[in-house]
Order: sequence, then C-alpha cells, then structure tokens
Amino acid sequence: MTDVSSLGPEEGDKREVLTNRQGHPVYDNQNQRTVGARGPATLENYQFLEKISHFDRERIPERVVHARGAVAFGYFEAYGAWGDEPIDRYTRAKLFQERGKRTPVAIRFSTVIGGHDSSEAARDPRGFAVKFYTEDGNWDLVGNNLAVFFIRDAIKFPDVIHALKPDPVTFRDDPNRVFDFMSQTPEAMHMLVNLFSPRGIPSDYRHMQGFGVNTYKWENARGETRLVKYTWMPKQGVRSLTEADAANIQAGDVGHATRDLRDAIDRGDHPEWELLVQMMSDDEHSELDFDPLDDTKTWPENEFPPRAVGKMVLDRNTTDHFTENEQIAFGTGVLVDGLDFSDDKMLVGRTFAYSDTQRYRVGPNYLQLPVNRPKSAPVRTNQRDGQMAYYVDESGENPHVNYEPSIRGGLREGQYPTTDDEGPVITGQVTRKRIPRTNDYQQAGQRFRLMEEWERDDLVDNFASQLAACDRPIQERMVWHFLLVEDELGLRVGDRLGITPADVRHLKPLASQTFTEEDGQRLANLG
Ligand code: HEM
Repeated sequence: MTDVSSLGPEEGDKREVLTNRQGHPVYDNQNQRTVGARGPATLENYQFLEKISHFDRERIPERVVHARGAVAFGYFEAYGAWGDEPIDRYTRAKLFQERGKRTPVAIRFSTVIGGHDSSEAARDPRGFAVKFYTEDGNWDLVGNNLAVFFIRDAIKFPDVIHALKPDPVTFRDDPNRVFDFMSQTPEAMHMLVNLFSPRGIPSDYRHMQGFGVNTYKWENARGETRLVKYTWMPKQGVRSLTEADAANIQAGDVGHATRDLRDAIDRGDHPEWELLVQMMSDDEHSELDFDPLDDTKTWPENEFPPRAVGKMVLDRNTTDHFTENEQIAFGTGVLVDGLDFSDDKMLVGRTFAYSDTQRYRVGPNYLQLPVNRPKSAPVRTNQRDGQMAYYVDESGENPHVNYEPSIRGGLREGQYPTTDDEGPVITGQVTRKRIPRTNDYQQAGQRFRLMEEWERDDLVDNFASQLAACDRPIQERMVWHFLLVEDELGLRVGDRLGITPADVRHLKPLASQTFTEEDGQRLANLG
C-alpha cells in the first residue's frame, strides 16, 4: 500500500489537482506502485502505464518536407478591388469583395529540407503557407519565398527532394547529390540562380516575399475564368543573409526566425504583407515564349502587372506548438468558390500529395482539429468514424441519415453558383510529354542580369564553393548550363573550377531538354 501520510497538498495550496485523462485525481506523481519500497512494479498501475504510454506516442511523423516552421495568426483585409478595378469583374470569391472586410488567417512559415529541429539560417527555400478561414470554408494558399520552383512536373518531386536531403547511407549533406540531379534538370536553373543568390537565405520570416508559384484561376459570377499568380509583399521590406552572417547566427541559435517572429508580435510590431495578383486570359498564350502553366517561370510584370487586392496582418502567436504548428495542415486543393485550379502539372500533383500525407501524418480526421476546421463556415458531412473521430460533423435534421440522396431529413446537395461549362475546351491525346515551350535558360539569365554586382559575386561564390566538392563531370555539366544561362555566370563559375567553355563544348544536350538552335549558337560563340 502507498504510504498516504506524506501525500496531499500543503496547507493553503490553491492550485488545481492533477488528474489523468479519465478524470481521476493523481495522488502520487513521483513514485510508481511497487511491491515494497524496493520491490518489482505492479502491472495494474493504470496511472503510471497511461502516463508512459501516452508519452511514448507524443511524436507524430514530422512533415516529409517543411518540417521546421513557425505559425502565427492574424487577419486578411480586402481592398475590394484589383488595383483600381472592381474585383467582382474577375472573381466572385467573397473574401475579396468588400473593402475593409476581414478574414481570419493562420500562417506557417518554414524551411524545406532540414528536420524539425534544424537551422532556420539554412540556404533553402522558405515555405509561406496561409490558411484563410472564409465564410465559404477554408482557402489555403501554399507558397514559397522564391517565385519559381526546381521542376515543372510533380512526378519529379520525390527525386528533387531526395537529391536535396542527406545521403541515405551516411546521412550527410552532399553537394554532389544536389548538383548531380540539378545538372540533369535544366528547368532547375532559374530556381538555382535564385536559391544561390542572397535571396536563398532570408534574414528571417518577416522580411521575405511569398509567392503562390503555381498558376491558379479566378472565376467571376458569369463563370468567366482567368489565370492568376499570387505574390505577398512584406511591408517590412526584403532582407537576406550572407553565408557568413548565417553561420554566425546559427552558431548561437538555430531558431532565430521563429524567435524574431514571436518577439515582434509580442511587442506589438505586427508584420504585414500586401497580396498582389497577376492575371492573364485563360488560354495557352502562344504569343509568349514560356508556358503560363510552367512553375519554373515568372510572368513579366510589365505585361502582367501585379495589383494589390488586400493585406495580411499577423497579430497573435501560437499558444501551443503541437496543436497549432505540428498539426496544422495546408493543401493546394483547399479553394473556395471563385478560385480554381489550373492544369499546371505541379499543382495537380501537389493537390493529391498534401491531404494524402496529412491523413498519414496527422490522421484521417485531421480536418476536425480546431486549427484546421473552418471557423466561419458550417461543416455538414456524411463522413463518419475513423481513428480519432472527435465529434460528429453537423448532420441534417435526422441524425440516422448519414447518406445522400435521401428524403428522410438528411443533407442535400447545394446548387452550383454558375454553369460548369465555361472555361477553355481541352482536347488532346493521352500522352507523356514535356510541354513544348520549356525555355529553361532565358528567365534565369534575365534574373542574373538584374542582380546588383554584389549579388552576382555572392551567387558565383556560392555556386563555386558548393561545386568545388562535386565530381568533375557534374561540374562540367553545371558550367555548360551556366554558359547557356548567361556567359558571365558560366565563365566566372568555370574560372573558379578551372573549366573553360572549350572544356564543355563536347557535351551533348540532355535527352530531357528542348535544346534550341539559338542555345547551340551561344555555346559555339564562346571561346
Ligand atoms: C509541404 C508535397 C511542391 C510549398 C509539403 C508536404 C508535402 C508536399 C507532402 C508536407 C505537408 C504536410 O505534411 O502537411 C509537395 C509536392 C510538390 C510540392 C508533391 C510538387 C509536386 C511545392 C511547391 C511549393 C510548396 C512548388 C511552393 C509553392 C510547400 C509548403 C509546405 C509544403 C509551404 C509546408 C506547409 C506547412 O507549413 O505545413 N509539400 N510539394 N510545395 N509544401 Fe509542398
């Protein structure tokens, strides 16, 4: 028997009593039940077993990408217009319509490659995922801080991530893996020129842009659709770190960006971003030298001006990391009326991947969790049961009817707001082909030419120091690509590695690329 004489609260201790999850008070949280003070433990020791076995299950799988992140809450305030034009001309999405209308948001900023305790000063894209709790249900805009991505077809995503993650045998980061893959992936050049520039290490989460990256659609009340791209512009400005600054910061704190965000919100310095939208008609745009559904491309701002549609203010920190950060779940399929997908081949793959991984990572009822469920719209489904079902979603007046159609008081279908036969008609053979307008180098070159001199120096340094650790054939192929991006980039990185244009001229174009006559001419003209 437990010696109860020494237990119990001190006289006058007003604190609440600890219980277990069954609501039983816990009288001794220091000693498990044993046969005698030194004897073996007993197995019926419910409180002890519950405590330990719950602890054994405290971790869920971390996100396969974007494992480390910081969450904050706030609101989105609509301008009621797309620039100077009434917004309902372009979208009927309710959250945008009225000037000053506020929609609550949750945002998760993240790094991509490292585990959930890894450094926030890594050279890595940053995630920028926003959940809008709208009156029509949730809308997730799951973006990054860089405007483009490494690949344009979702089938390559596991490969690009494996290449960027540590070696599966040694668990060491290895530039040879990264550049082996990238050297065989010409469409990655635009992303690489961004990632290895100073923009590749944002100073923190408050001073970075966000981009939807993929192409989406807007739809108005007449059912007319347009292609759109989203950009978040920080009112705080954009700031980046050099490799040396980043190394210093992470020597003292691997979580500096989370700290910076929390501290700013705590002191009332609420960060803000403006949401800008670029738009084009919903067709192939054969006049452009890139495909509007290609996420390795940006849309030129002079032709497709970004116009502000609202601003986001973050004014509240999380109160619990696990329930609000580990369990929050974003997905590109989470859209509301007036917003739609495009046929962007990445977007389709992403839309499958997010809810698939969340059913595995969090559980099949992840959408019942407070941080994920809609806050401003009812949820009435016939979905039932499954692991960790927390409650029954609202049902019709007859709770026995968990199916549809029914005339016995169950739920009914809504009415689609417009006809669903608007938008482009698409015909074609079922095939596996890359898009015709790949144009892998041009925008990477433009980006390089737009950089200030110190940014170019930094880019060359970063490429050269990483490539120095790579095998010679990988170095040569990367220099070959860089020469096609921009002479200066190829010549300078090549010079650092002891590789001249003549050394790489024998390389043939990759089977995975569309190599134009102009590309061939550029190489021939070099040295
Ligand atoms: C997270 C898949 C491309 C931005 C994730 C997760 C998966 C995934 C499985 C983990 C989600 C979770 O556990 O909750 C994919 C696939 C892609 C792709 C298959 C390509 C086909 C992209 C692109 C962007 C992006 C292009 C940027 C626009 C993010 C962000 C997160 C994320 C921000 C973190 C969300 C959070 O904070 O919870 N992605 N991704 N992903 N992805 Fe992607």
